[in-house]
Amino acid sequence: MQQPKRYTVTSALPYANGPLHIGHLAGAYLSADAYVRFLRLSGKDVVYICGSDENGAAITIRAMKEGITPQQLVDRYHKMIEDAMQDMGISFDFYHRTSDPLHHETSQDFFQVLYDKGDFEEIETEQYFDEQAQLFLADRYIQGTCPKCGYEEAYGDQCEKCGSTLSPAELINPKSTLSGAAPVLRKTKHWYLPLDKHEEWLKKWITTGKLDSTKLHDPKDWKKHVIGQCKSWLDSGLQPRAITRDLDWGVDVPQHIEGAKGKKLYVWLDAPIGYISSTKAWAKESGKQWEEYWKDPESCLLHFIGKDNIVFHCLIFPAILKAYGGFVLPANVPANQFMNLEGRKVSTSKGWAVWIHEYLKDFPERQDELRYYCYKIMPEQRDSEFTWKGFQEANNNELVNNLGNFINRVLVLSSKYYGGLVPAFDESISINSPQESGMPSWHDSELLDLFDRLHEFRQNIKAFDFRSALTTLMEVSSVGNQILALNEPWKKQKEDPDTVKVVMNLCLQYVGALAISCRPFLPFTSTKIRTMLGQDPFTDQDEFVELMNNLSEGNHLLAPGHKLGKADHLFTRIGDEEIQAQIDKLHATDQTQEVESAEVKQEITYQDFEKLDLRTGVILEARKVPKADKLLELVIDLGEEKRTVVSGIAQSYKAEDIVGQEIVLVANLAPRKIRGVKSQGMILMAENGNGKLGFVSPPVGWGKGDKVR
Ligand code: 2FM
Ligand code: ZN
Repeated sequence: MQQPKRYTVTSALPYANGPLHIGHLAGAYLSADAYVRFLRLSGKDVVYICGSDENGAAITIRAMKEGITPQQLVDRYHKMIEDAMQDMGISFDFYHRTSDPLHHETSQDFFQVLYDKGDFEEIETEQYFDEQAQLFLADRYIQGTCPKCGYEEAYGDQCEKCGSTLSPAELINPKSTLSGAAPVLRKTKHWYLPLDKHEEWLKKWITTGKLDSTKLHDPKDWKKHVIGQCKSWLDSGLQPRAITRDLDWGVDVPQHIEGAKGKKLYVWLDAPIGYISSTKAWAKESGKQWEEYWKDPESCLLHFIGKDNIVFHCLIFPAILKAYGGFVLPANVPANQFMNLEGRKVSTSKGWAVWIHEYLKDFPERQDELRYYCYKIMPEQRDSEFTWKGFQEANNNELVNNLGNFINRVLVLSSKYYGGLVPAFDESISINSPQESGMPSWHDSELLDLFDRLHEFRQNIKAFDFRSALTTLMEVSSVGNQILALNEPWKKQKEDPDTVKVVMNLCLQYVGALAISCRPFLPFTSTKIRTMLGQDPFTDQDEFVELMNNLSEGNHLLAPGHKLGKADHLFTRIGDEEIQAQIDKLHATDQTQEVESAEVKQEITYQDFEKLDLRTGVILEARKVPKADKLLELVIDLGEEKRTVVSGIAQSYKAEDIVGQEIVLVANLAPRKIRGVKSQGMILMAENGNGKLGFVSPPVGWGKGDKVR
């Protein structure tokens, strides 16, 4: 599509069965938010749509466990999620909910239209039924013994120990996770969407971007992992998929249809239709036409999701939209992979998460700090890892030392030297520049350099490469800092105030550009910078376009004589204690059982493995760390050097028994302070099912400092 007329942007509807956590944010919301904020700053017509996903078995079961009704459950979490999104600056145009009557109507209309067209098949099957809970059981709610490895708590769809994909019928001794009772097989009839009949056009559309002979998108613009996942579904052959369920919560199958009694729409049928009902609700409120955003071929539909939702957004929902007729298909589905937390998968049920509402209690007013770190490590192409240490380092080294420091210095010096007015300057004076062009006047070189960087920034965002866009943005700030460092206005002000005026004016232009361009990522900060610059509040319209036009023409963003506001600190350092408190909190709420350690971790590449520098060594000294039951402080001889390492092995080994032990050390692990001791590496240990640790060691008498690979 050449320049779309308008954009319809959606983020996956979060299930209203728990609070919002960082995994959600990094999966589907922050990327979309940066994208739509950028579109708005580029003067585009855009609607950003979302809402709570309030139907489905997950809701009923959670409500049952909490002893409340599904309605009470979704009311509680819908409100919490909506508030948390708003508090984090996720700028939806509309946040709806799928328990709303408008959504029920819209979904039923879809079912009815497809039903009338004869697009469904009716199929009778036998499914497990829990007679105590009076419920048909979704695969996740049946556990039993894995036929492949004998693990006794395998789920109906997968064994978490050996990783095998299973079906409930394969489990030995199945039991319901709801009541513990053995479920019985019962016959039930459901409507199926025959995805096999859509396979051909879906394959062509995904792999070539073409529908019939019209080219709708270029697959090269889609992420490789998204196309890869779709291809793998398509290659294994699409199967008819049940789109109704036996439940008493959710959207009713239109009741006049024969056999509809007690049947609800499958949550994955109604949830994506939630994007449409949410757009309808928005249009009603804002006097717009929802159909323009969904039916005009010049509208660009984009779904931001996590990788577990790819099949629904790239294959199933498009099949439904096409079967209904008249709807556009998504122009792109820029799915993210998963962001893990401190080495493990984020999990609501296992209590392994950073909850947004709690984060905001512990770090009030630090929304942008969390946003920044999540963009920095956004799992765009592969899974990534949130660590509290990484969060602290990103804040202290990048936000405080780079961005915050630059802007603060510029504002403080301007206030001191010019009483808070943008200085006029003599264009013929040249200054020391970090640019290579070495052109004499900053109008010609410095502003064009800024233009080039922001052009790259724009390209990064357009390509859904938010990590690179953030890096580019921070480079602008680094260049700003370099201009200050190379010209040292604080030293020159007395003897050469004219040159200082040039420097300060240029730096103020940089700050002006940063205020606008950081807005997609750091909206709270951008507003603060704007206030510090004494400019009008953001209108979120055209401002980036205007910025680029000004830069390309060498125009001032802030005119000489403009009155600046008051300098303030944008960011402050986060201390070790605050970070340790978060790590402790995470472990305190961890409800992981033993199976977690047996889980096979996600696949890595050889390049990932190669990053590890593993070395053989010998323990030279060992002593207990005072007041820490688990820790020993060790001195390791690596041949060329000695390292101090704090190791959590005190419950398996006594200090005096392990001197002379040969070990393998992860030698390039970033040093970490543990109980006040700087630990420089980590010893490899094997752990058995009872939590006992044993050394992984090279053969006896092996050399020190040798590579392990
Ligand atoms: O995976 C999930 O959390 C689902 N609630 C996402 C639904 S996305 C859309 F289709 F509504
Ligand atoms: Zn198994």
